[in-house]
Amino acid sequence: MILEARDVTKFYGGFRALAGVSLSVKDGEFVSIIGPNGAGKSTLINVLTGALRPSAGTVRFKDRDIAGIGPVALARLGMARSFQLVHIFPDLTVLETLQAAVVSRLGRGTRLFASLSGDREVQAAALEVAELFGLADKRHAPARQLPQGDKKLLDVASAFALRPEIILLDEPTSGVSTADKTAIMEILVAASKRVGLRAIIQVEHDMDIVFGYSDRIIALHQGKVLADATPAAIRADAQVVDTVIGRKRTTAPHAPEAPHPSPLPKGERESDPKEERESDSPLPPWGRGSG
Ligand SMILES: Nc1ncnc2c1ncn2[C@@H]1O[C@H](COP(=O)(O)OP(=O)(O)O)[C@@H](O)[C@H]1O
Ligand SMILES: [Mg+2]
Repeated sequence: MILEARDVTKFYGGFRALAGVSLSVKDGEFVSIIGPNGAGKSTLINVLTGALRPSAGTVRFKDRDIAGIGPVALARLGMARSFQLVHIFPDLTVLETLQAAVVSRLGRGTRLFASLSGDREVQAAALEVAELFGLADKRHAPARQLPQGDKKLLDVASAFALRPEIILLDEPTSGVSTADKTAIMEILVAASKRVGLRAIIQVEHDMDIVFGYSDRIIALHQGKVLADATPAAIRADAQVVDTVIGRKRTTAPHAPEAPHPSPLPKGERESDPKEERESDSPLPPWGRGSG
């Protein structure tokens, strides 16, 4: 067991976002967390990565309690994460972004930008990650100029620069085209093998990606684990299909401008304000992974 949550509850004020979540991740697993908007997926990632302290319950990574441990200590322990929204600095180049990640791994954060270009070890490590993710050709491009797919890739690559043993990704492919989603996953899986990553945990909305890459799927609904099973078993679970998968399946983002009316009533396609706020995608609200 590399990562384990036991009976985790998380309150925001009086609102219970997680209600007794237990899960475990073993060596070698690729686990996807799915669930509708507001199910508690991002909260769970935050708790699993020690960014949020659970209101009750425990989170253990490599047999250590990591509740509220914080990102620096967490990276030293061997866990890295990426965020639902791309966290890159728009004016840094690809290489500088990766250098910043490497510097934070090496614990040289206090003189972050002063030490970036001068340090050979940092440069070499950053370039290695850029190559691993197929970003070497674009290493001098400012991050803001990258297409959305490459921004996502850079965000994931930054997490890899921390040389993690396991990685947690919150919607690594949200806001990119279907073709780019697959490309991102292929690069991620290849990079994981190259560096000997021990486990991947991702939040993902795209069911082709979820079913195409997961060893196990955990379905969250209203802060609880609705199901935790193999892709085949999840597909056969009517409650999960109804609650989580079915609706997404009928609103695939392939042709939002198509003349056919959506199978859903209009009200159901409207994004909530949170989704709007979080959007960094030019796609219409029913055409992107959300929440
Ligand atoms: N910082 C916060 N303060 C209060 N409520 C929050 C906060 N973050 C998330 N929530 C609420 O908790 C619930 C779960 O949110 P989240 O974990 O982001 O879900 P998901 O990622 O599955 O969409 C939602 O109802 C959301 O509005
Ligand atoms: Mg989320």
